[in-house]
Amino acid sequence: MKLKSIDDLAHNQSERPKTLGLFDLSIMGIGAIIGTGILVLTGIVAATDAGPGVIFSFIIAALASGLIGLCYSELTTSIPSSGSAYVYTWVSMGQTLAYFTGWTMLGVYITTTATVANGWTGYFTSFLKEFGIVFPKSLASSPFDGGIMNLPAIIIVLMITFLLTRGMKESKTINNILVLVKIGIILLFIIVGAFYVKPKNWHPLLPFGISGVFTGASTVFFAFLGFDALATSAEEVKNVQKNLPKAIIISLAVSTMMYILVSLVMTGDVVYSELNVPEAMSYVLITINQPIVAQVISVGAILGILAVILAFIYASSNIAMAMSRGGFLPSNLSILNKKTGSPNQALWLIGLIAAIGSGFLDLKNLATFSNVGSICVFALISLAVIVIRIKFPELKRPFKIPFGYTIPILSILTCIFLLTNLPMTAWLNYLGWLLIGLVIYVAYSIRHVIY
Ligand code: ALA
Repeated sequence: MKLKSIDDLAHNQSERPKTLGLFDLSIMGIGAIIGTGILVLTGIVAATDAGPGVIFSFIIAALASGLIGLCYSELTTSIPSSGSAYVYTWVSMGQTLAYFTGWTMLGVYITTTATVANGWTGYFTSFLKEFGIVFPKSLASSPFDGGIMNLPAIIIVLMITFLLTRGMKESKTINNILVLVKIGIILLFIIVGAFYVKPKNWHPLLPFGISGVFTGASTVFFAFLGFDALATSAEEVKNVQKNLPKAIIISLAVSTMMYILVSLVMTGDVVYSELNVPEAMSYVLITINQPIVAQVISVGAILGILAVILAFIYASSNIAMAMSRGGFLPSNLSILNKKTGSPNQALWLIGLIAAIGSGFLDLKNLATFSNVGSICVFALISLAVIVIRIKFPELKRPFKIPFGYTIPILSILTCIFLLTNLPMTAWLNYLGWLLIGLVIYVAYSIRHVIY
């Protein structure tokens, strides 16, 4: 088993401008986490899996994310690298696992970008409809949904990619505004909705039993994806060892609180069985006779979801850049633009793939692999904490998870539990992605890997 040396890695980092402080980073985390998950999945999971008990699904998924977030924090502060999980695996478990970890993350992040962009089109076209503008359905849906392509999704992914190629300094200001708008509309929903809660709607609390809550937890886990994406920003963070773990925990805590309150309000305002609609927040507000608030929230969602797309394109380009530095992917993907310090070739490649995916693919089916892929990587990351502690006891760990191995072990067990609740199609899609990765590994990476 060939391991990458940690010293080598430290020298293999290029000097990117350090533009991200704790505030930017926490905002970026919240921006990546809160998105279509809470907007789309909460209602559907409440109606079909967990009932009002969806709140417990969120709590379980939040606990799992918290355990994993702690593991990320230890690793990212002792080995701050944009490759994140791919790099932690390389220094602890060897090149093959590192490659497939990086490959999985690329797949998960690109698919998440495409899925979120696809969901964004729904909000965008219904918003236009309010003003009497009917966007042709054939140009707003992929061939798998009976259309020609999802043009708004393609355009928005390319526009955000363009923004990111201008560098993090410019992107972060726009991102901060988008995220604050998003936090604003979620709070607005919670405050307005709270006045209409009827506690009788919370009965029965678990109409589908405890197993429904567990299935729901594995599904809503998607809503927490994004805290891991923060770790890929390591090279652009000021005082990374302090700020990165704090930002991971802050963004998870804020998102969890919002998710719990949103699910309480949603299931308290409307009987859970009515929530099987993709735009549950608007549906609830219209049901309680608050159409103007519903409109404000739609506009906010249109803006806020853009931050998720931005965070995930950014994270995927960082992984592609790091894998290219390792020789697994062609070397031009790690060239940084002289003016902006951003890996523009990696950004455009990722942006184009994500744009094509969002415009033409069957995302309803493909996206299911995001949860399987990411949770597999998270289990590996948790294991990496243990392996790295044993192999490199002297390594400086500015943040060390307390209670010995308890938390990494709990994290691994939680990941395994969540994985057992995911559907077979998700596993098959993941297998398909790994097979494509295997072809590239054998045809290219294995001959170019750099030690
Ligand atoms: N957590 C992100 C979302 O829910 C992926 O949109």
